Amino acid sequence: MNLASVPALEAPRRAEFPADFRWGCSTSAYQIEGATTADGRAESIWDRFCSAPGHIRDGSSGAIACDHYHRWPEDLDLAAQLGLSAYRFSVAWPRILPNGTRSGPNAAGLDFYSRLVDGMLERGLEPWATLYHWDLPQRLQELGGWSSRATVDEFGAFADAMSQRLGDRVRHWITHNEPWCTAFLGCYEGSHAPGLKNWRVALQACHHVLLSHGLAVPVLRANVRDARVGIALSLHPHQGASDSPDDIAAARRYDGLRNRWFLDPLYGRGYPADMWALCGADAPQVASGDLAVIAAATDFLGVNYYFPETVAHAPADGPLTARVVPTPGAERTDLGWEVSPEGLCALLERLNRDYQPREIVITENGASYEDRMPPDGVVADFARRHYLQRHLIAVQEARARGVPVRGYFAWTLMDNFEWAEGYTRRFGLVHVDFATQQRRLKQSGAWYRDFLRQR
Ligand code: FCB
Repeated sequence: MNLASVPALEAPRRAEFPADFRWGCSTSAYQIEGATTADGRAESIWDRFCSAPGHIRDGSSGAIACDHYHRWPEDLDLAAQLGLSAYRFSVAWPRILPNGTRSGPNAAGLDFYSRLVDGMLERGLEPWATLYHWDLPQRLQELGGWSSRATVDEFGAFADAMSQRLGDRVRHWITHNEPWCTAFLGCYEGSHAPGLKNWRVALQACHHVLLSHGLAVPVLRANVRDARVGIALSLHPHQGASDSPDDIAAARRYDGLRNRWFLDPLYGRGYPADMWALCGADAPQVASGDLAVIAAATDFLGVNYYFPETVAHAPADGPLTARVVPTPGAERTDLGWEVSPEGLCALLERLNRDYQPREIVITENGASYEDRMPPDGVVADFARRHYLQRHLIAVQEARARGVPVRGYFAWTLMDNFEWAEGYTRRFGLVHVDFATQQRRLKQSGAWYRDFLRQR
């Protein structure tokens, strides 16, 4: 299917989506909050990672970011003005258990998120809380971070503290955001905090992240009446660079690590045998009972979708002996990510066919373009608007084919600290001037608002 070639569907149709479909935006704590030393927050692995030269493209950090910690009422006003029905945020673990469980929860940190959630509810925004969006307390990193099994229990305590405090008002919980990034960008490629480059450590960290997810699911259910619990995975469709058996097998290995390594154990199949064999002696230590814990039933699968990958066999390239190559003729965003709404539709159908999640929620989808601020103060980001429109058409199409997609969260409400790219990349529906902290709605945001008003 080539959605780009379907002229009759230039814009998604709001009426095609049911009344209870969740329409939201996603954000994450470290990318927007700033105030990294306020009210008892301790250092996170991202504070530490940013402080070393060469890690962040513009030498910046999340120390101020969007100053959301102080400006959150204005930001929630913006979210409400867009007409969103839901808002996905994450909790900064170092605000809650600054030193891990060695000392008790930090009341000021819990109070902040409690006020934030009340602010959402006052504005008609349904809160969707993500527990881990990459900001581990540095203190826990010093004890081994995710490669240490003790961090799994620390996460359980964090999930318990948060859900005890917010569980009377927050029903929707996401345990982890993109465990692939936590494990492989953080511990193998080293381009994200904590900046390690060790395949074996990455595999062990990955297992502990999945285990901590499974451990947290019953904790959340115990503390939250009618809890709706899921995990948000970064998922990608893959194709071989050619029809050669080598390239097709290489694409299968990429699919194995990026997709199946997470989906198979989460849906009760254990780690995929082909990838386990590839890991050899580097395969993680898995204690008896771990796989049953990881396979705890969830209520929805969160899908963060950005781009597909074309993969070539490359004998010298890392443990996967494979490499991502440009897809011939592919459209790209200004960040260089390939644009493929048809890839989203195909991915959703595949997830439904192979794993039958109860529900799917698109927990992130969006695009970075080099926005220019003209004198009238409205960024004319037609490319981003078009990106959103085409991906919503893909969701509409997948739903028409029977895939139970129940929500869509755009990434992201406002421009923010884009990890290793610092402030050089903008994904927001709202433009942020980082010198003045002025927020201004972009054309894409106005389009999303107008789309949500149609009924
Ligand atoms: C995702 C992350 C999110 C943001 C977008 C662009 O991988 O979850 O925080 O950086 O990419």
